[in-house]
Amino acid sequence: MAVAEVNPLLDGLHVRRRPEPCILVIFGASGDLTAKKLMPALYSLSYRGLLPDKFAIVGAARSEETDDEFRERMKDAIKAYARDPFEEDAWQQLADGMHYSQLDFADEKAEDEMRDMLIALDKERGTLGNRVYYFAVPPSAIGTLIEEIARRRGGASGWIRLIIEKPFGHDLASAKALNALIQEHYAENEVFRIDHYLGKETVQNMLALRFANGIFEPIWNRQFIDHVQITVAESIGIEGRASYYEQAGAIRDIFQNHLLQLVAITAMEPPIDFTADSVRNEKVKVLRSMHTPGPKHVVRGQYGRGFVEGEEVVGYREESGVATDSITETFVAAKLFVDNWRWADTPFYVRMGKRLARRETTIAIQFKRAPHPPFEDGGSALRPNVLLIHVQPNEGVSLAIGAKVPGAGMSIRTVHMDFLYGGAFREGLPDAYERLILDAMLGDATLFTRSDEIEEQWALVDAIVAFWQRDRPNFPNYAAGTWGPAASDELLHRDGRSWRRH
Ligand code: BG6
Repeated sequence: MAVAEVNPLLDGLHVRRRPEPCILVIFGASGDLTAKKLMPALYSLSYRGLLPDKFAIVGAARSEETDDEFRERMKDAIKAYARDPFEEDAWQQLADGMHYSQLDFADEKAEDEMRDMLIALDKERGTLGNRVYYFAVPPSAIGTLIEEIARRRGGASGWIRLIIEKPFGHDLASAKALNALIQEHYAENEVFRIDHYLGKETVQNMLALRFANGIFEPIWNRQFIDHVQITVAESIGIEGRASYYEQAGAIRDIFQNHLLQLVAITAMEPPIDFTADSVRNEKVKVLRSMHTPGPKHVVRGQYGRGFVEGEEVVGYREESGVATDSITETFVAAKLFVDNWRWADTPFYVRMGKRLARRETTIAIQFKRAPHPPFEDGGSALRPNVLLIHVQPNEGVSLAIGAKVPGAGMSIRTVHMDFLYGGAFREGLPDAYERLILDAMLGDATLFTRSDEIEEQWALVDAIVAFWQRDRPNFPNYAAGTWGPAASDELLHRDGRSWRRH
């Protein structure tokens, strides 16, 4: 039996304790995220026996669907997207407590109906009045939902946790308004703002690498590090999400959240412990220390036609649902500074975009050159040491060092010391959503973004967007399947540096 056979301690998610009984309500149950990410993650948790023993899931959305239709659709989604093989037992455990609620909160009765349904489910499933509400809906819909739920807490007599998907607002003002609304009704420890990059094993491994090893932290600063490069490259395009992406663009879709979180994790001071507040206190200090880059230090781009992984693809403006003269950016590169004693004058070059040459998320820490290489050729072929964190794919860490080429003489070449997750650990890596849903059920907010972090992130983005509004970019300016516009390379060339070779 799959559920019993898999030992959670040996398989990716090392569970400290099992969550208490609860009902998980997913708003936005007809959307892509529920099918492609949330349900497969819940299935994998069920497969490992990590869900509460008394548990129910209620999918809520505006479209009409029966419980059975919803279950069938979710079953298909699990078969298509889950990382684990489909096992009837694990599925049944999930499906037994699975319901659907057609919901339109514009209709007064909807909230009552949902509350009655949840109270009845509490009795049937023994879920003790505990609720996790997952908001997988656009920002425009979140406010109303939160207010409705707040009125009678959806009949919850136990604890409540709200998981809120990105985008969290559209700019600083809307994010502040949403935070204020949430804080009117809920305590910060009831709120879990998702940035799924924080749930990725390799991003957490950055913390392990820095704070579980004595050798890195003493050199993790401006004295030894020349600069940092962070790349979040995707080969995919916008995958039918034009209406969202036209509003968001690359800067709101990834730069504002995933990318700035990677900067924060790389640059933060050691937290005093691994609790939510200690970790987030350190991250927010980094975000506060970042000054707004000048217009010359930010590059935006949009892809035109090209070839990605051997296949011809259309330009952004030709994607269905995109305006033919759209100036939405699909690429951003920037030179950022963290103004504090550890990092002053050390550039953090970051870039991210769609339809780039391949999928790759990496953090590269480039150290300063050895001061005086006493070798025949002066070590001219020797490249500086680079610590490379492969966030995805090929998850792992690699350190570039100079080594002697075998034979006579003393020539030096750069080689790599590699740690690969796949080689070192037998278990597969859990999906970020598995970890995050489990943490939210356990009430652990360490890997979620706090209100002040979100607001700092928006302040930086608002400043960039403001100077973008002053002129109209000449788009498209990079071909799909390349590494972005020429100006992105120039950003580094001006400083006598270049993006890491691919
Ligand atoms: C999402 C963005 O937050 O992250 C998507 O909205 C993007 O546009 C995705 O494709 C990337 O996530 P991952 O985990 O595949 O790197």
